[in-house]
Amino acid sequence: MKRILIPVALCAIAGVAAYHYLTRSDPSAGTAPVLHGAPATAAQVVRGEYLARAADCVACHTTPGGKPFAGGLAFKLPFGTLYSSNITPDGKTGLGNWSDDDFVRALHDGIRHDGQRLYPAFPYTSYSLLSRDDVLAIKAYLFSLPPVEQTTREPDLSFPFNQRWAMGFWNAAFFKSERFKPEPNRSAEWNSGAYLAIGLAHCAECHTPRNIGFALEHRNELAGAEVNGWRAPNITADPAHGIGRWTDAELYQYLRFGHAAGHGSAGGPMAEAVENSLQYLDRQDALALIAYLRSVPARQGEHPVEVNARPASMQSSSAYSPSANTPEDLRVGLQLFEGSCASCHQWNGNGAQTRYAALTGARSVNDPTGQNVMQIILHGGKMRIGTEEAFMPSFGAALTDGEIAQLSNYVLYQFGGKQGKVTAAMVAGQRKH
Ligand code: HEC
Ligand code: HEC
Ligand code: HEC
Repeated sequence: MKRILIPVALCAIAGVAAYHYLTRSDPSAGTAPVLHGAPATAAQVVRGEYLARAADCVACHTTPGGKPFAGGLAFKLPFGTLYSSNITPDGKTGLGNWSDDDFVRALHDGIRHDGQRLYPAFPYTSYSLLSRDDVLAIKAYLFSLPPVEQTTREPDLSFPFNQRWAMGFWNAAFFKSERFKPEPNRSAEWNSGAYLAIGLAHCAECHTPRNIGFALEHRNELAGAEVNGWRAPNITADPAHGIGRWTDAELYQYLRFGHAAGHGSAGGPMAEAVENSLQYLDRQDALALIAYLRSVPARQGEHPVEVNARPASMQSSSAYSPSANTPEDLRVGLQLFEGSCASCHQWNGNGAQTRYAALTGARSVNDPTGQNVMQIILHGGKMRIGTEEAFMPSFGAALTDGEIAQLSNYVLYQFGGKQGKVTAAMVAGQRKH
């Protein structure tokens, strides 16, 4: 696998494929929209905090239990591991000695203050669109925080990926440093939403598939992709496979609170995005984001998942007891569900105690590969929204691969009416993430 990947990726990096995933033009043009929650008149640090949250800098620059922004989070790539940098204002190990221009160059061009190239695991490909004012507001906010002394770990990548200069070829093929250029034919709301979605909140970094050179495939924008073992679903306007049938109110609930009635809850990386970032969006900015999402052309995507929110199995169950007709081969899964899950989720998927435990209509329980179902059973879920905490324990240590496979197939049958295809080997594979 590796042997094939390297030459292929090298070709891609060398820019043989003339790939225009960025269709926007003219680097100098345009003034960025001013986001409602980050008015130009607010103190720079206050604006910067809002923008840094929208951009979710903290998610990648903090290890679990570690100091915020001190870096060290590992990014496992097919060719090795990369660690995020310390971006606190520490003079020795962080950004303390970086000038405004150094910082702008990192976010706009992906170049470090010593002139070395950064890897695009750092989404400068998105942040490039941000206005200089917004980038400097983010810097002002970061520099208002306490410095943390923590040396950034060197990447552990194989040749030729350990050569930072080689990223120059990648950039030549896949990246164009340019600021956001408002579309004159679209409303101010749409333009704010686009700036948020593409520049700051980088929805595409998770929801858009990547090409062979790991660059985003613009022609499949938001059609769904895999991220750290999770499936980020299709969020184009496609009514069956995307969010075309969701109302604005449902999208608003999901993005701001991590749950929408009839669509389930945000788990894994999406739960983090909601917890760290999207819950802080100003209402008007969230609505602008939704207006933009609505305009993304409908696509089926490579992994189409259709939601059945009212499968017969669920309708013939009550909150307290399952349907009598569960197929024989799913009985073991049913018993496991009874022991570990039913008290929170209930047999009809309504969820007890918290709306976050409602499974009805969730995309995860309708995907026959069971990818996100396996993930949440293995790793659990934890999402703090305001003062409320959605919590599901992890069962990775308590259950075997075989048990998790049986349980997943039962969940897919019971709550999505799907014939699950999960095997113990697939669960073992998911454990590696
Ligand atoms: C999706 C993950 C991710 C997000 C989100 C992210 N970063 Fe990073 N960032 C990284 C990684 C990984 C690196 C290390 C890249 C490398 O070593 O080439 C990095 C490197 C950097 C660097 C270079 C520092 C140095 O000394 O090497 C700066 C500056 C930076 N990030 C700032 C930010 C800011 C500001 C934000 C929010 C606006 C942000 N990052 C959001 C992953 C991320
Ligand atoms: C203590 C209560 C609790 C228990 C026990 C529990 N869950 Fe959960 N579960 C939740 C909550 C709360 C969420 C939403 C968490 C989140 O989004 O981060 C959730 C999310 C899920 C999801 C994802 C739903 C979606 O919207 O995508 C699935 C699937 C799931 N649980 C299955 C199970 C299974 C199978 C078991 C038993 C092995 C189980 N749960 C045990 C509370 C629980
Ligand atoms: C870090 C990766 C990541 C980022 C960034 C991200 N998402 Fe997600 N998103 C996911 C994953 C993974 C899921 C599936 C969660 C689950 O099954 O519980 C998801 C689920 C969703 C869903 C539910 C879709 C469905 O059919 O159930 C919507 C809507 C969504 N994301 C919108 C967005 C928007 C809009 C943005 C940008 C503002 C965004 N996401 C940013 C990873 C991400």
